[in-house]
Amino acid sequence: MVGFPKDFLWGGAVAAHQLEGGWNKDGKGASIADVMTAGRHGVPRQITDGVVEGYNYPNHEAIDFYSRYKEDIKLFAEMGFKSFRTSIAWSRIFPNGDDDQPNEAGLQFYDDLFDELLKYDIEPVITLSHFEMPYHLVKKYGGFRNRKLIDFFVTYAETVMKRYKHKVKYWMTFNEINNQSDTTHDLHIFTNSGILFQEGENREETMYQAALYELIASAKVVKLGHEINPDFQIGCMMAYVPIYPYSCHPEDMMESVIAMRNRWFFSDIHARGEIPSYIKKYWERNGYDIEYTEADEAALKEGTVDYIGFSYYMSGVVSSRKIEGSRSGEFKHLVRNPHVQASEWGWQIDPVGLRYTLSVVYERYQKPLFIVENGFGARDVIEADGSIQDDYRIQYLKQHIVEMEKAINIDGVELLGYTPWGCIDIVSFGTGEMEKRYGFIYVDKDNNGHGSLERKRKKSFEWYKQVIATNGKEL
Ligand code: BG6
Repeated sequence: MVGFPKDFLWGGAVAAHQLEGGWNKDGKGASIADVMTAGRHGVPRQITDGVVEGYNYPNHEAIDFYSRYKEDIKLFAEMGFKSFRTSIAWSRIFPNGDDDQPNEAGLQFYDDLFDELLKYDIEPVITLSHFEMPYHLVKKYGGFRNRKLIDFFVTYAETVMKRYKHKVKYWMTFNEINNQSDTTHDLHIFTNSGILFQEGENREETMYQAALYELIASAKVVKLGHEINPDFQIGCMMAYVPIYPYSCHPEDMMESVIAMRNRWFFSDIHARGEIPSYIKKYWERNGYDIEYTEADEAALKEGTVDYIGFSYYMSGVVSSRKIEGSRSGEFKHLVRNPHVQASEWGWQIDPVGLRYTLSVVYERYQKPLFIVENGFGARDVIEADGSIQDDYRIQYLKQHIVEMEKAINIDGVELLGYTPWGCIDIVSFGTGEMEKRYGFIYVDKDNNGHGSLERKRKKSFEWYKQVIATNGKEL
């Protein structure tokens, strides 16, 4: 193993709504994450009409990072973090999203948080919108159905970028913006775009319109950000689940190329500033009337991202025809990959898929990459002696780091850093569970919201500390 670049940004990642809690403290408005109930594997989270008494909303308290962040950052520093990725809760800054003035208490919270990180030389890596626009924007404007959301987002971004221009260098606009391409689910369009599908509407057309508005908003923010501070590095944030062909049958191969357009559509626009021809043809064929102006096209061109941030957890497989065991979902014939194992939640574990993704994305855009999420969600057990022996997590991360190193040193990929997901146990986004854990740090809380919130180092804590201390040489 040759090793990692000198300034490699080892760290960890979280999102505001999944750990902060304090959902209505110090002037914060309700966000879309605050109206999502707890579910579990196979039982979807419900989206309620506002906060309704009697429901369990796991994000309301989460792990109370809002009041415990100093204690937690101290633990990150103990592991040697060089970077920490979190998001700003939009509704802490603009409680309703369309307010004339920002909420000073919310701004102050992030000032204090960033100061605490910088005290330990931990570089903040900040997502502007990680699944949590102010809920008021959903109710009053229909979320990103409405073009007005572009301006609300730009105003919010401008406010925080100006405020933290000397504290934050690395930014990302919309988290996993491409999740919504799976329109079979109600959750993704809600968390990406603040949209509730209406009966009978063409879901895909709605999604493309909202996504395009977000891409325009993102491009405007990239341009503005560079004016605020030319040193800013502003990226996008993609969920790259590579889709393999089921076989070498030419039709399967073509099917996977078409499936990947569900991902490329978003990053092609972010990185190249143009609406790709394959999607224009697709809109045309389907009679989709997607609204955009010449000024929008110019904005896309002027606001291409500096780097590609992305999450990588698993890969997928498509077949061109129905075969035994195939199921439909985002794609018509999804197949279980017989060559890889899956987690309890059905996520297919494929470390080589990370190297594959790094190579393909880098060759496509020639921009620096940043793995801002990767990790293994599992149930942890506290042993009789109080320890947590999470070897399965160590194993998962180790295998992915090995592939990352190959991507850098064999494939020539420019990789800025690695921030494994949920470096401290947090509320699961997909299911709202606490017991789907990713952390190096255990948090005493269960799926029903019970627990002392006490923090505990897992075995992986010491392991990751060693990885960082040796700059990835000792795994
Ligand atoms: C990504 C999201 O989809 O995956 C995170 O950006 C999320 O917010 C993570 O938590 C893991 O998913 P889950 O459902 O296991 O929490």
